[in-house]
Amino acid sequence: MFKQSVLTLQPEHLSELQVRYEQALADNGYDSLLIASGAAPYRYGDDQAWHFQGYGPFVHWTGLTGQEHAWLWIRAGEKPVLWLYQPIDFWHASPTLPEEPWQQCIELRGRQETGAPELESPGRLAVLGDPACLDGAPGDHNPMGLVRAIEETRVRKTDYEIECLSVANRLALQGHRAAREAFLAGESEFGISLAYQQATQQREADAPYHSIIGLNEHAGTLHYQYYDTRTPARPRSLLIDAGVRFRGYCSDITRTIPGPGEGRFSALVHGLESIQRRLCDMVGPGVDYIDIHRKAHLGVAALLSASGLVSGMSDESMVEAGITRAFFPHGIGHYLGVQVHDVAGKPTPAPVEAPFLRLTRKLEKGMVVTIEPGLYFIPSLLQPLLEGRLATHVNGRLIEELGGCGGIRIEDNVAVMAGGARNLTREAERQV
Ligand code: GLY
Ligand code: MN
Ligand code: MN
Repeated sequence: MFKQSVLTLQPEHLSELQVRYEQALADNGYDSLLIASGAAPYRYGDDQAWHFQGYGPFVHWTGLTGQEHAWLWIRAGEKPVLWLYQPIDFWHASPTLPEEPWQQCIELRGRQETGAPELESPGRLAVLGDPACLDGAPGDHNPMGLVRAIEETRVRKTDYEIECLSVANRLALQGHRAAREAFLAGESEFGISLAYQQATQQREADAPYHSIIGLNEHAGTLHYQYYDTRTPARPRSLLIDAGVRFRGYCSDITRTIPGPGEGRFSALVHGLESIQRRLCDMVGPGVDYIDIHRKAHLGVAALLSASGLVSGMSDESMVEAGITRAFFPHGIGHYLGVQVHDVAGKPTPAPVEAPFLRLTRKLEKGMVVTIEPGLYFIPSLLQPLLEGRLATHVNGRLIEELGGCGGIRIEDNVAVMAGGARNLTREAERQV
């Protein structure tokens, strides 16, 4: 069973983190590091708190996303110490952790206080975490050099992390399958979201991000954030962008499903899917991620030509003139890990023509990225095209017709292996 292999890989992951952290601490002149898991803030003027999801470095070590007021102490040459907040509280549950091999690698202590624990001989101490939780904690809080170095420890995933991401893909695909069936059975966005949650056995608040579930025109809003409870009279398309967390690790998968009788839109979806698969195949060590983004624009240009949406221009001139950006305004993807948009992707700014690109680095073994080209009918971006100097090249009638389908995004999660790409999503699709 997959679970067992994950559990046996975790101690190696922790040993590797110990090595990476010791190096980061030494490079930045610290002897030890205390990491706060964090705590959910209360809503302004209210006695209700936001739903909690833990701080990245804490989750990177422990995989525990729901532990508030926990603290982890890392020192060179010593076992890390993890303090879990276990108050005697008749209002809330204090779940006990199942016994697992990683607990041999970290010393566990329970406590009833929320603030930083007292440390024996911390030496020069740094503390990382949400500043709102660090009042009264000793040491240097969130020193920038160390924060950057610790973020860098998340860039190249260990075997354990890749396995967790793979499981997160398998779990999410069960939800995607249920969502597709719910759409074809005539469910509303709300009904589809319930089908997704049921199939993934995941509360929406625990997901890596709010699921994006858009029918028809709603599919054209990149981060559409509502669930309509009514089914449209003519369901023409579903765009679902939804993931699952497994031991803290996130999947981030998008599928677009044409409604019955939507032949033209369906052809566009297939066209974008073949582009997307080719882009996924580009992933490998030494490849510049910005080149994948640029290739995506050329692919979208070719598809705009082939579908008759744009005519009389070469692919290159369409990209040059910004036409492809009006149809595909976001970046090709990002790092993925214990956060859906994982850290350290942009040590250099994105090129001017790709302002929303979240990852500007060359790919290396162990990185995990998303590949998510899109093609949307977004009125505020297309109207200037239809009224501008290139209007004669753009097929307004076809845009009008397809606009009711909103848009397309296809997104997979891909690991960079020594020999090329490992597409965690397609691999899981064959298994689920
Ligand atoms: N689900 C957000 C994204 O694809 O980046
Ligand atoms: Mn994504
Ligand atoms: Mn996504």
